[in-house]
Amino acid sequence: MKKLLIWGAGDQGTATLNCAIAMNEYDQIDFLDFKEKGHREISGFTIYEEVEEDIHHLLKKYDEVIVATGDNDLREKKILQLKSMNIQPATIIHPTAAISPYAKVSKGCTVSAAASININAQIGIGCIVNTGVIIEHDCIVRDFVNICPAVAMAGHAVIGYKTFIGIGSTVIDGVTIGENVTIGAGAVVIGNIPDNTVAVGVPAKVLKTKTEM
Ligand SMILES: CC(C)(COP(=O)(O)OP(=O)(O)OC[C@H]1O[C@@H](n2cnc3c(N)ncnc32)[C@H](O)[C@@H]1OP(=O)(O)O)[C@@H](O)C(=O)NCCC(=O)NCCS
Repeated sequence: MKKLLIWGAGDQGTATLNCAIAMNEYDQIDFLDFKEKGHREISGFTIYEEVEEDIHHLLKKYDEVIVATGDNDLREKKILQLKSMNIQPATIIHPTAAISPYAKVSKGCTVSAAASININAQIGIGCIVNTGVIIEHDCIVRDFVNICPAVAMAGHAVIGYKTFIGIGSTVIDGVTIGENVTIGAGAVVIGNIPDNTVAVGVPAKVLKTKTEM
């Protein structure tokens, strides 16, 4: 049995906890987060206060560390911080997730219950693949992407670096969604979506570019 630290005690932190408990590989699971951000209490679990000077010392006490913040920028920043300390981020995969032996899930990902990742799919570093997500054959998901529950991606679709795919969205085969894109809840993406945009609807259309936000 191992000791796991979950870095982030918000909604994604608790989702990751749920997966980690189901894995039955950890006899101690603790959290690390900023108190002033008003993180929740998580009954039965210790949440250490994130104090810059003490982080290295604390992280080294654990066999594994997973960064569990839904915000893609923050998750990237913390994973890079781990790497600068020579700590490999853990990969947390719920035992009910169905992952092809010919798919690749990179370090620092959390894959939740009932997710399916099919043959030849590639998931980059630090991604969140949420409950019931379907990532079909040959899809490419770049680093630090957040895919919300019940998203379905058909074969050969590509999702760019640090993109967010809202709950229940559908992405048809072969389309490319750019970098730093937000796809709204329930969208149906049937064509390519440019970088740095927010796209919503059925079919998905660009609502705005992020520089306008
Ligand atoms: C797309 C999204 C990010 C836009 O948020 P926003 O920038 O605050 O946009 P607004 O709420 O101001 O809406 C702007 C317009 O887009 C429309 N819109 C917003 N989200 C939409 C969606 N998902 N589908 C269709 N239209 C949407 C609004 O109705 C509004 O239209 P109007 O100008 O005609 O009134 C947000 O609505 C969304 O869908 N987020 C995903 C949340 C999610 O999946 N959470 C899961 C967590 S696990």
